[in-house]
Amino acid sequence: MMAPVTNFAVKDTNTYLEGFGSYHQSEAVPGACPKVNNSPQRPPFGLRTERISGSSFTSPRGKSYHTWLYRINGSLIHGDFTPLEEDTESPDKSRPQHLTPNAYKWPQFPLEEQADWLGQKLLARNADPQSKTGTAIWIFSVTKDMSMNTAFCSLDGETLIVPHTGALDIQTELGRLLVRQNEFAVIPSGIRYRVTLPEGRPCRGYICELFQGHWELPNLGVIGSTGLANIRDFQIPTAHFDGEVVEDGNGGRIAKANNNIEAHGDWTIISRLSGRLWSCNQDHTPFDVVAWHGTCYPYKYDFARYCILANAMFDEHDPSLYTVLTAPAYGSAPGTAVVDFAIVPPRWQMAEDTFWPPYYHRNTMQEFVGTVVNEQSSDSPLNDGSKFHPFGAATLSRFTPHGPTESEFVAARSLDTMTPQKVQTDGFFYIVLETEKPWYLTDWAYQNAVKNFNGKGNPLK
Ligand SMILES: [Fe+2]
Repeated sequence: MMAPVTNFAVKDTNTYLEGFGSYHQSEAVPGACPKVNNSPQRPPFGLRTERISGSSFTSPRGKSYHTWLYRINGSLIHGDFTPLEEDTESPDKSRPQHLTPNAYKWPQFPLEEQADWLGQKLLARNADPQSKTGTAIWIFSVTKDMSMNTAFCSLDGETLIVPHTGALDIQTELGRLLVRQNEFAVIPSGIRYRVTLPEGRPCRGYICELFQGHWELPNLGVIGSTGLANIRDFQIPTAHFDGEVVEDGNGGRIAKANNNIEAHGDWTIISRLSGRLWSCNQDHTPFDVVAWHGTCYPYKYDFARYCILANAMFDEHDPSLYTVLTAPAYGSAPGTAVVDFAIVPPRWQMAEDTFWPPYYHRNTMQEFVGTVVNEQSSDSPLNDGSKFHPFGAATLSRFTPHGPTESEFVAARSLDTMTPQKVQTDGFFYIVLETEKPWYLTDWAYQNAVKNFNGKGNPLK
């Protein structure tokens, strides 16, 4: 049998560290990372020290997200930020406002044919990034690279990126990640990155921006210490910078950035604040971090590594068994989550006296459902290149009843459940985001939705 990893169509030549939540360190050039001091008087290779903090300094150790960066030029040197878009936060401007108890679906999103990473469309949002509560869901369809000498970052939240099809080459300040269909990535808030397309092939998918706290692995309770998404299967990029280390003329060596200004002009840093894009220029690349160490970093994960736990005798158990990451709602009652990120993965099923389809239910958590194509073959109709097989999503509002159709119900009652079957083997699987605060749909999402399908059967058909 093959090891439980994806045989990706697009190969990854980057190098990674492994281990979710660990304290990691990496240096692109041996000796670039100071051995003891965090902020030495003169760091190696003429580098400057900068720190990025993803949590307060007084956070408990287990919740402390800080990384020391050793870079060639300080981020401090930049022009003014100026808005690229109108102010959507003012009371007289539109913001997500469509709230409904009905189930909505988008069998196919009406997206622009030509767009880069900045062409994301906001589908829904709950709460508010400025109050550090809630989430946003964005839809992306990337057909071209971000402009040269341009980088992006979200000031609003930690960004979960899930390709539906295709792959994204993501150059971050801390290193490079290749994120392909059947993988997801997380980029911390404030980390700058640039997105391009390997081999120019389009990529589209979903983003969940977390305004509050950080994505975490769920507690395992009586399951024990392993299972679900295992800690060491998360991959963290190694330090990578645009430049080289050269002789300094005085017998030493110094790191020199390739800022690429002559060919492409100043760098543009585009930041998203409260959903609104701002831009500033600087005369040096943001990708000049030669070494780093800390706990605030991007990471990615291969869904095939998910260690599924399920029934061994009877009943279909709660989908919490499929939770990949969660964002606990600190300050609320135990067991509440800002958002849970789960998958409905390929798996073996066999059970006695069990109704297999998901039981009919109503849920205090609002659900967002999307698909991910895990079939890697270019022969698959799910991977039809620039034409794209339609992809879509659905939202199931609080306590909106949902479950199998009548025909699925009837078929399930006479199904042979005693013969092992591998399910979800059609080349795709579902992702689910569950949030405790209801999402407000944007005008774009509302106007293009199939309304009131009321949660019967497959939401994407
Ligand atoms: Fe549900």
